[in-house]
Amino acid sequence: MKRSREQLYFENLKSEPLGANSIILNKERFLQILKEMESFEDLCSLKNKLLYLKSMLTYRKGDSEGILNIDTNGDTISLRADVLLSEIDQILESRTLERAKYYIRRLAKGIKEIKTNKINDINLLRWKEYDEIITDSLWILDKRDTSGAHLGWYWGNFIPQIPHQMMLRYTKKGEWVLDTFLGSGTTLIECRRLGRNGVGIELNPEVAKRAKELIEKEPNKENIVSEVVVGDSRTIDIGRILSKYGVKKVQLLIMHPPYHDIIKFSKDERDLSNAKNIEEFLQMFGEVVDNASPYLERGRYLVLVIGDKYSKGEWIPLGFYCMQEILRRGFSLKSIIVKNFEETRGKRNQKELWRYRALVGGFYVFKHEYIMLFKKR
Ligand SMILES: C[S@@+](CC[C@H](N)C(=O)[O-])C[C@H]1O[C@@H](n2cnc3c(N)ncnc32)[C@H](O)[C@@H]1O
Repeated sequence: MKRSREQLYFENLKSEPLGANSIILNKERFLQILKEMESFEDLCSLKNKLLYLKSMLTYRKGDSEGILNIDTNGDTISLRADVLLSEIDQILESRTLERAKYYIRRLAKGIKEIKTNKINDINLLRWKEYDEIITDSLWILDKRDTSGAHLGWYWGNFIPQIPHQMMLRYTKKGEWVLDTFLGSGTTLIECRRLGRNGVGIELNPEVAKRAKELIEKEPNKENIVSEVVVGDSRTIDIGRILSKYGVKKVQLLIMHPPYHDIIKFSKDERDLSNAKNIEEFLQMFGEVVDNASPYLERGRYLVLVIGDKYSKGEWIPLGFYCMQEILRRGFSLKSIIVKNFEETRGKRNQKELWRYRALVGGFYVFKHEYIMLFKKR
């Protein structure tokens, strides 16, 4: 029996599974099918074709999760299978031919074109595929990412999800990230995973050495630069560090300073955790902002991660004080994210005690810190 042109399209629509959730399609063929559907004159036959397409996409061959026969010759596209199927369902639910065709055109556009903005690689035409990216201002994260080189050994580190999210939102692959309080190197480990070049400055030589060792353990598939420098972020010549790589500006600046003296990181008087009082702490923090921000590209983001503290029975809004220091320097505030503190085993044991103290003293137990986002004008 002679097969119609259409049937051949479907049969030749090549796809193969890519992990549990993705599907690789032969781009041209898939677009041809969608184009063909656009020329249909009644909704019923369009839906019938679509149902057929859906059954081909969800077809499982034997035990494999395969979706269609595999032949990825030619131009291919990788799509999230669940998102694609929900888009197909949306078309199937259309009540009018016009609406169905509108959705088909939108699907085709998302396959043909890529639309990103200037500061990241998110394809806005397929934005539904990025559900990993958080867009809410309240972050309740119960688990730290401890995979690979992220050992979480450093007291006072931040969870890898913070630089991870920030880089996905505010940088493109191959761009440059500067962390002025590197600590255990969390930012630079994430840089390697996401293919961003990273420069980190850390005052404490031993901490920097350990961080460097761990960063080097993280695979560097994209061959990016990971530069760990020992120094005082208030005064170090950042221009000189960058010039080694022929770079003048970074595209993301991450600052996770000590929360004043909550944790004493060293005995070094240049260490912000040794500032004698809040005024001195803010003065030192301001100096770091002054020293680093000229190297941030205009229109790009500074991320401040900070928590508040109690002193002599009083809540000291360290986060907001630091925010003021940055705003005074002409940045615009884009967001304040409130993030929970994940519970460590030690803290859990003290939970009851703190609750009792809070009831006695009329205060609330700290459960959050801030991730503040500023844009350089
Ligand atoms: C809150 S920790 C940063 C932790 C880091 N985000 C991580 O995930 O490991 C702050 C770090 O700033 C460092 N530090 C303090 N004063 C500094 C200064 N003037 N210049 C550079 N680093 C400094 C401390 O040694 C400490 O490691």
